Amino acid sequence: MKVLGIETSCDETAVAVVEDGRGIASNLISSQIDIHARYGGVVPEVAARAHIEALNPLMEDALAEAGTDFAGIDGIAVTVGPGLVGALLVGIAAAKSVALATGKPFIGVNHLEGHVYANFLEHGPPEPPCVSLIVSGGHTMLVHMKARHDYEVLGQTLDDAAGEAFDKVARFLDLGFPGGPALDRLAREGDPNAIRFPRAMEASDDFDFSLSGLKTAVMRFVKKERSQGREPDPADLTASFQEAVVDVQVSKTVRAALEREVGTILLGGGVVANTRLRGRIREAGEREGLRVLFPSLALCTDNAAMIACAGYYRLEAGERTSLDTEADPGLPL
Ligand code: KG4
Ligand code: ZN
Repeated sequence: MKVLGIETSCDETAVAVVEDGRGIASNLISSQIDIHARYGGVVPEVAARAHIEALNPLMEDALAEAGTDFAGIDGIAVTVGPGLVGALLVGIAAAKSVALATGKPFIGVNHLEGHVYANFLEHGPPEPPCVSLIVSGGHTMLVHMKARHDYEVLGQTLDDAAGEAFDKVARFLDLGFPGGPALDRLAREGDPNAIRFPRAMEASDDFDFSLSGLKTAVMRFVKKERSQGREPDPADLTASFQEAVVDVQVSKTVRAALEREVGTILLGGGVVANTRLRGRIREAGEREGLRVLFPSLALCTDNAAMIACAGYYRLEAGERTSLDTEADPGLPL
């Protein structure tokens, strides 16, 4: 079964063709990073307009690269939320048009489920139960996946998302946009124990997170140092900030897996591209005898292969979405 996946929830226009939830026949992304970098962040109206311009040619290229055409597709999967409403609308309208014109089944996909399912493109079909940490620019949550489409949200951030914290600290340090990857690179040269930043909620007996205090602590530290005529070492500073984020995420994720008695931890979302998070969670998994899975780098950040994959498993289970379905910017998992 060949599924056409379409993703336009934020600032990447993405189209993919995936066979049987596993074989990536094509996976194209048209990034708007250069456009939004001028504003220092994603501008929703600009994103929607750029999706409109990019989507049709990208669909044609993705089908051609996969050696097929609209008639050769067996189903259409599209992100219906969460995300920017105007951006989501563009992908949904295109997907509905293809479904109407071809008469092929249509399935709406939750973007967060897409991030979880990115794992199954490379690691084989889902084998729940597992605990999943979803960390992206808009979300930070721990989820107990009990069955293929049965989720219990164990906890989430009470303020900033992890990617947002990376981006804000990076912006404060003038590292550019998006800040996560730049901060990651700089931190590799630094000492993660140079500065002891607060580990908010690490010891709390829930699975929630809080990241805005950490961001403020970093800014306060820099301002205090500067007021005393010292310039903090950027590599040590970013490594120490990153360590505080990763410490809490790793310890809460492992605790959730042990408490829920699952053998597997799955990671998903753009922040999972982070070198330190990947290394530390893998170590922790080995120590605790837990299987830890995360996508390869290119499949951590937003893409349409993960949407096609999540759509495939729902279509395969006989699920269909009505063509009346609309964008839901706050769609829960
Ligand atoms: O999943 P994603 O592509 O889009 C959303 O659904 O939000 O995640 C984007 C976020 C951005 O905040 C970006 O800075 C962050 O993921 N990110 C990283 C790294 N690569 C991307 N954060 C830390 N380290 C990275 N290597
Ligand atoms: Zn995402």
